[in-house]
Amino acid sequence: MLGGEKILRGDVAVNRPYDVVIIGSGAAGLCAALALAPNLKVAVLAKGDLSSGSTAWAQGGIAAVLEPGDTFESHIEDTIIAGAGLNHRDAVEFVVEQAPAAIERLAELGVPFNKAEEAGWHLTREGGHSHRRIVHVADATGRAVQQALETAAAAHPNIDLVPDMVAIDLVTQRHAVSPDGEQRVWGVYALDRVKGGVSHITGRATILASGGASRAWVYSTNPRGSTGDGIAMAWRAGCRVANMEFNQFHPTCLYNHEVKNFLITEAMRGEGGRLRIPGSGHRFMPDFDPRAELAPRDIVARAIDHELKRLGLDFVHLDISHLDPDFIVEHFPTIAARLAEPDIGIDITREPIPVVPAAHYTCGGVMVDLEGRTDLPGLYAAGEVTMSGLHGANRLASNSVLECLVFGVAAAEDINRRWSELPSPPPIRDWDESRVTDSDEEVVVHHNWREIRRFMWDYVGIVRTTKRLERALNRINLLRQETEDYYGNFRVTPDLVELRNLVVVADLIVRSALARKESRGLHYTSDYPDLLAEAVDTILVPST
Ligand code: FAD
Ligand code: SIN
Repeated sequence: MLGGEKILRGDVAVNRPYDVVIIGSGAAGLCAALALAPNLKVAVLAKGDLSSGSTAWAQGGIAAVLEPGDTFESHIEDTIIAGAGLNHRDAVEFVVEQAPAAIERLAELGVPFNKAEEAGWHLTREGGHSHRRIVHVADATGRAVQQALETAAAAHPNIDLVPDMVAIDLVTQRHAVSPDGEQRVWGVYALDRVKGGVSHITGRATILASGGASRAWVYSTNPRGSTGDGIAMAWRAGCRVANMEFNQFHPTCLYNHEVKNFLITEAMRGEGGRLRIPGSGHRFMPDFDPRAELAPRDIVARAIDHELKRLGLDFVHLDISHLDPDFIVEHFPTIAARLAEPDIGIDITREPIPVVPAAHYTCGGVMVDLEGRTDLPGLYAAGEVTMSGLHGANRLASNSVLECLVFGVAAAEDINRRWSELPSPPPIRDWDESRVTDSDEEVVVHHNWREIRRFMWDYVGIVRTTKRLERALNRINLLRQETEDYYGNFRVTPDLVELRNLVVVADLIVRSALARKESRGLHYTSDYPDLLAEAVDTILVPST
């Protein structure tokens, strides 16, 4: 999104001493960087372009209590109802109460939120919200947020933005030249994807802000890089990971053989869009839930899945053509324009949109407290990479960019507060490539990538069974062996880094799903269709 001299390449970055290393340049990473920069020198790494994470793709908006008559208590209750009671109430209160100030900070950075006709910002509505609560920039909110944050970060002399640096693993005490003492995190080993070569980039504190893992499934709304790298890195380093069975499937991804991964925002249903069966035109959501199209996402996605299977359909229709064409184009200009292009050719003011559910959001992740601290000293995490307790078993729409804004700042504030207690990194060993060669079978990595994403879709989808989960686990075990062999013998490539992480993440997802003997929120299994009385997190502990 940005160009210019402030964006550094790997060799510049690794020669500088940093105070804090941030892995990820989306909303969580950049908010943390901006809150640290007044006092500390920060490096922000991205594995591709700075704006290639999910943040820039966010459409609907950001939730906050801003409407007269709305209350924090109502936003908290809606979040916990959507989350099927698994949410941590303290985390929900913390985020909801900080939301208006977080939105104000973005507006001050220049995010041009749509204005209401009377006064204040225009608030749209999404599933599970009992009030109009979503500030937005038409239907491309994330692009505006990413741009404003990147511009502010690039202008700050204490922030180095480093694209094309693929973090491979966290640098911990065991990578020190003298590896004794407490297990701490000191930064990362990262591969420069432009120049090649692995370096270590160190700091007194490290923040993981590397996004989610929805690319573990073949159909996903996410950008290519959502491969759960941060979750896998933290797990390998010794952090607990929780609630990975709760991956959210967004109900309405465009169904098109050529154009994959294009989301149709939930705000379209919020403004009156209806889900219908192609052919008969039957509006089916009222058959499933009194809130119809505005039921929480898990319910809408499961209803669509049910109708697709029952009727043998490839897609259902999302139809907003009954509304005024000017209203549609004003509220959904990006979607209207993209779908009107010749390769798709749908005029949404007159025609329905074919849609299917697709993997969208990782509710589980690295466990953090309200300061963004993980289990390992020196390591913080914020945003979609985490399990903060906010989302429970199903994220409420538009609560996730919000979580990034709040926890990015919370992690930074904790680092600022504790700065004098954080030791400087010891001398760290160089990356050892003495026993590896260039791979002669890169194609195997691609086959394995495809295989994993396909069987996750087939066996670990919207409706699960124990048998299917066990099938998935058998395949993961084979792939783990192959991938580790590969990793041990060949020079790392970005694709191999991602495959290795996908195997770890798929394993965490399937093991968490097998451990849950009930159906709650996003996790639905025909073998345990009931909800248990007590809501308990699934916490996986690494064997170190
Ligand atoms: P991201 O924005 O995903 O950024 C991750 C960063 O980590 C990237 O810079 C990436 O390069 C970097 N990274 C990853 N791995 C590595 C590695 N190995 N080495 C170096 N860097 C790495 N949420 C809402 O609240 N409202 C919405 O309207 C909304 N709409 C959405 C629409 C779409 C299509 C999608 C996909 C998501 C949407 N979401 C929405 C979810 C929300 O956008 C994300 O949860 C949120 O933006 C995640 O931000 P993040 O900072 O945690 O990670
Ligand atoms: C959307 O616009 O439908 C996505 C909102 C979200 O994921 O929170």
